[in-house]
Amino acid sequence: MAITKIKAPAFHITGKTGWINDPNGLIFYNGQYHVFFQHHPYDTKWGPMHWGHVVSDDLTNWSYLPNALTPGDDCDKNGCFSGSAIVHDNKLWLIYTGFIENQGGDSIRQVQCLAESSDGVTFKKHGIIIGEDNLPSEYAPCDFRDPKVWLHDNTFWCIIGAKKVGGRGRILLYKSKDLFNWEFVNDLLGTDSAGTMIECPDYNEELGYLLYCEQFQPSENGLHLNIHTCRYCIGRIDYTNGTFNEESRGIVDYGFDVYAPQTFAGKHMIMGWLNMWDRNVPSEKYGFAGMLTAPRKVLIKDGRLYQEPIVSCRAASYKEEGKETLQDKLKTGVITIKATNLEALELKLRSNGANYTTLSLKNGEWIFCRALSGEAIKGAEKDSDSINGIRRMPYSGNKETTLTIVMDEFSVEIFEDGRALTSTIYPPENADTLELSVKAEKWQYERADIDLKA
Ligand code: FRU
Repeated sequence: MAITKIKAPAFHITGKTGWINDPNGLIFYNGQYHVFFQHHPYDTKWGPMHWGHVVSDDLTNWSYLPNALTPGDDCDKNGCFSGSAIVHDNKLWLIYTGFIENQGGDSIRQVQCLAESSDGVTFKKHGIIIGEDNLPSEYAPCDFRDPKVWLHDNTFWCIIGAKKVGGRGRILLYKSKDLFNWEFVNDLLGTDSAGTMIECPDYNEELGYLLYCEQFQPSENGLHLNIHTCRYCIGRIDYTNGTFNEESRGIVDYGFDVYAPQTFAGKHMIMGWLNMWDRNVPSEKYGFAGMLTAPRKVLIKDGRLYQEPIVSCRAASYKEEGKETLQDKLKTGVITIKATNLEALELKLRSNGANYTTLSLKNGEWIFCRALSGEAIKGAEKDSDSINGIRRMPYSGNKETTLTIVMDEFSVEIFEDGRALTSTIYPPENADTLELSVKAEKWQYERADIDLKA
């Protein structure tokens, strides 16, 4: 089926047409940032997964390259699922999951495959490198996916999402000397996850954190309400024992729509899918479904993962100080509100009077609401916040507060003190007004336009 894209986000990555989900193989190679993503080019619904491919010099303006991986070979008959990339011998290597559907259910096979490129554009497949024969029999070969590879001490290491037969999500650790021959090391966490399956595990060797997603994860007393969660665990892998020593943990994003975040190889930067499973996607009628978040700089401080958006902007085009309320006009851009001794804040974004998205500071927490944003998004979650379009994020309570909001046509990414709250919104065309009221000792509002090249 041919699809025409008639609208698109201004600077968030989406497919040339059709459906996208997880970011894959985030890497800097041959002088450019490469981002791959799960992609079904021929429909706005998930289907046989390709690896879409874009490149950028500045992490904001992205250009399409041909799809890097297309399913259909014996090793990836029905899909090229998520995975990662590594540069080795000046070549770019992709490690991904081949999806072989067979008759579905337990007969599905998920195997880890390898592809290489010398120009970063065309890829040659090498077939299966970690197959069913290299998966200990207590793990299910139908749920074994999303390899993340990195180098440590001249050895390649890889973690893969897995499931114990009759049990729940696990992460398996493998090692290799040459990317082709792999040896099973250990079940990294050694216990079942609360979620039914672990997807898209990711490890940042330098900063010392693990990211992973859990499907159908109970809300842990309201810590997160999305039934599919993304978690970070601060700590390090003990390579001798093949275990992970966890020091602290948290959730990656407090909003509705971040899944499968991954770290750029060797960089302190992550990116996630800006959407979520089990929700309708109103942009289907525009010929696209799914976006990626803006890249985020990450660091570890006080046992927490701190995130800050990376968006290339022009100098601030509008600045205001000290009034109690203000109005502005914008659909896309980055706004920054700085306040000393902040007491209260009410922000309406993308408003036309009848439709708007709100962020308020109340009782020590940020409350985001998209109930009136525009087109309705319905998820599988049944709690009252989810039904009412609400997500909450703790407020730092810092003497000096900096609130940063990255706005695109169909998304809002909110950052304060390293925490993030990200959601899709689908407002009407004419919803372009911003209204802000702040109570603070002093405060300042700033809006910067995105530095778009084309
Ligand atoms: C996560 C995920 C991965 C899988 C991919 C398929 O969103 O389910 O586990 O590889 O999407 O598109």
